[in-house]
Amino acid sequence: MSGAAKMRKKGKAPTQKGKLNTVLATAGRPCGEDSYPVNQSVERASTILFPTYEEFVREDKEFVYGRFGTRSHKALSDSISELEGGKQTQLMPSGLSAITTCLLALTQQDSHVLVTDSCYDPVRSICDRFLTKYGIKTEYYDPRIGSQIVDLIRPETTAILCESPGSLTFEVQDIASIVSEAQKYDVPVLVDNTWSAGYFYQPLAAGASVSIQSVTKYIGGHADCLMGSATCNDTALAAKINRTSRQLGHNVSADDAYLAHRGIRSLGARLKVHEANALQLADWLAQQPEVTSVLHPARVDHPDHELWKRDFSGSSGLFGFVLAPCSEENLAHFCNALDYFGMGYSWGGFESLLIPCPVARCRSAVPWREQGHLMRIHAGLEDADDLVNDLDQAFGQIRPA
Ligand SMILES: Cc1ncc(COP(=O)(O)O)c(C=O)c1O
Repeated sequence: MSGAAKMRKKGKAPTQKGKLNTVLATAGRPCGEDSYPVNQSVERASTILFPTYEEFVREDKEFVYGRFGTRSHKALSDSISELEGGKQTQLMPSGLSAITTCLLALTQQDSHVLVTDSCYDPVRSICDRFLTKYGIKTEYYDPRIGSQIVDLIRPETTAILCESPGSLTFEVQDIASIVSEAQKYDVPVLVDNTWSAGYFYQPLAAGASVSIQSVTKYIGGHADCLMGSATCNDTALAAKINRTSRQLGHNVSADDAYLAHRGIRSLGARLKVHEANALQLADWLAQQPEVTSVLHPARVDHPDHELWKRDFSGSSGLFGFVLAPCSEENLAHFCNALDYFGMGYSWGGFESLLIPCPVARCRSAVPWREQGHLMRIHAGLEDADDLVNDLDQAFGQIRPA
C-alpha cells in the first residue's frame, strides 16, 4: 500500500501533491479517525450551535452561521483553490454575482474601472446602470490591448476586468502583459476564467489578482446548479471580497455546493470530450459553404492562436461561427431543424447548445463589423459524429435546391 493510501486509510489528506486530475479526485475529501464517506456530505444549516460560551465567543471559529458556509462549502472552495492554484476561494450565488462582488469590493465612489469589451454582457448592465449610481466610471477597452492598457490607467483606476477568451467573440487576452503594466500602478487584475474552467489556464500564475468562474458552467457541469467563485492568492484581498459578499447577504446552498463538488471530480474527463467534440465540429464547420468564419482559439486560423498556445493547455467546448448572411426565416429554419443542439442560455453542461448571438449591441470599444449571424456553439458530451450529422442535415434545410 502506498504512503498516500495508508494515510487516507487513517483518515488524513494525501501527503503527496499529485497532478491536476489527481488533485481534483482528492481535493476537499472529508477526513476523520472513524469511517467517513468519500465525498463531504451535504451539511445544511442556518444556525450552527456551539457547545460552550467559550466556544461561542472564540474569534477564529471556522463555521459560524450557515450563510457564511458549512463543511459542504469548504470542501468545494478548497477544491476550487487547488484547481486555480490559489490560496482562498469565495463562493457566490452565481458567476455574475462573483464578478459584481469583486468589482464592488475594489471600488469606491468616483473609482474608474477598465472592463474588456468582450465581457459577459450582463456585466455591462452592472457597470453602466448600477456602478454609475455611485459615480464609478467604466471604460471598455479592446480585448487585444495587451501592454497598451497602460495608456488607460488613471490615478483613480481601481480594477481591470479581463475575460479570456472573451464572451461571444473569443479574443484571447494577453493577461501577462496587462498584469505587468497594472502592477506598476498597483491596480488589481481580475480575470473571468470560466471558459478554461481553471483546468486549461490559471491566471493567478500569470500574476492576476483574482480568478473568477461561473461554477454554473464546467465545474457544475450538469446544467442544474448556479454558482460563482472568486479565487485569490492575496489574503487581504480575499478578506475584502469575503466581507463584501457577506455584507451583500449572499448565500450558496449546501446542496448546490455538494453538486458542484461532485462535478469537479469528473472535470478533467469531461473537458477532454468537450474539447475533442468542439474541435471536430469547428473543423467541419470551417469547410461548409454556409459558414464564413469559425471563432475557435485552438484553430490555427484564429488571430490569437499563438497567444492561446502560450497560455492555455487545452480548449473547452465553447466556440463561435459566423453564418453567411441569410434571412431571419432561414436562420429560424436552421435552428428549428436541429435535433441534438438545444437553444438556451448558459453552457458548460453535458449537453450541446447552439444559439444566435446578436453581438453588435454588446460592443462599444471595438465595433463588430462581420456580416452574417454570429452563432455560439457549446459542444456537449454526445457523440461528435452525431453532432456533425445533425448540423449537416440542418444546413440541408436551408441549402438552395
Ligand atoms: C463568461 C461568463 N461569465 C460569467 C457568466 C455568468 O454566470 P452565471 O450564469 O453563473 O451568473 C456567464 C454566463 O453565461 C459567462 O458566460
